[in-house]
Amino acid sequence: MKQTKIFYISEKTESEPLDEASKILSQGGTVAFPTETVYGLGANALDEKAVLKIFEAKGRPADNPLIVHVASRDDCRSLVREIPEKASILMDEFWPGPLTIIMERSEIVPDVTTGGLDTVAIRIPENKIAIELIKRSGIPLAAPSANLSGKPSPTSADHVIEDLSGKIDAVVDAGEVIIGLESTVIDLTSDIPAILRPGKIIKEELEEYIGEVRIAYDDKVHPESEIVRSPGMKYTHYSPQAGVILVEGEHSAVVRKIKELLADLNMRDARVGLMLTEESAPFFLGFNSFSIGPREKPEHAAKYLFFGLRNLDSKNVDTIIVDGSFNSAGIGMAVFNRVRKAADMIIKVR
Ligand code: TXA
Ligand code: MG
Repeated sequence: MKQTKIFYISEKTESEPLDEASKILSQGGTVAFPTETVYGLGANALDEKAVLKIFEAKGRPADNPLIVHVASRDDCRSLVREIPEKASILMDEFWPGPLTIIMERSEIVPDVTTGGLDTVAIRIPENKIAIELIKRSGIPLAAPSANLSGKPSPTSADHVIEDLSGKIDAVVDAGEVIIGLESTVIDLTSDIPAILRPGKIIKEELEEYIGEVRIAYDDKVHPESEIVRSPGMKYTHYSPQAGVILVEGEHSAVVRKIKELLADLNMRDARVGLMLTEESAPFFLGFNSFSIGPREKPEHAAKYLFFGLRNLDSKNVDTIIVDGSFNSAGIGMAVFNRVRKAADMIIKVR
């Protein structure tokens, strides 16, 4: 076990702790840091040994490639064979920000980072601390979400410590993240650009700038499939200890169904946690519950989904029931994608 250092940093990006954290990174260590989406676990993307430490700490399968985080478009250039026209347009529009772009990699990116693929995923995060860390360490940072593989992604440094304390060199703690769900991943190596993972930036926004974009993800887990394009999509995801039941549909039908489930689980003495929209909460007073905000504000559900799964888990419940009556527009689509992947059972009602 290592002693994991914690660097507390406020908005002001004080130089001393950040200098120390970047020194650990430039010497081949692992440091978790905030981005606008979730906390990432960083290491030198060009140093095979450093990258292997990420896989080891997370217990991540070796064929699941990492996203490389850079501070400028210049840093990006040496990592790819070329920057396609459409990539350049998207970079102008969405970087820094929660958009990861997949391009053909150059020889300097090692196999471990890309899981052996000929492509590399890159983004510039929109978080001052992340950018400072990349600049000061002077290297591109490979950084998957800083959770144990299969667990909900971390939206605060506490979550990182819960999962990875003793397994990584340091955490930069700058409080809660803003978005709460990982970046949109778009592949620009195929004829028609493909979204491999939904996020805050949606298909229609991307199409405004580069024309047709297709959706190449679905909301299921495919343990046996060989054909999934984004290797990460075939593994269990975002799962708390407790079993997760998602109830989707029109609001009053969802409330009715959750009541039914509770009666049934109650008979079997199960400890239940509820993730409820604000509108549903009054129907379940006295239950162990967590609010994911108003139904019409999916950005709130996005911010608190992973947080809520971890929160209910810490109360040692056996089953978490998620109220899926929130709006699926905008980032809502990505929230549904994550919660469906986390679910052991999905019930659709109308
Ligand atoms: O918001 C985010 O993207 C966060 C923060 C830390 O930046 N990072 C993150 O990384 O979510 P991770 O490793 O948890 O998810 C990366 C996803 C995985 O599904 C992986 O399979 C996919 O991107 N990916 C990475 N490189 C790829 C490539 N070359 N081809 C296809 N998929 C790739
Ligand atoms: Mg992840």
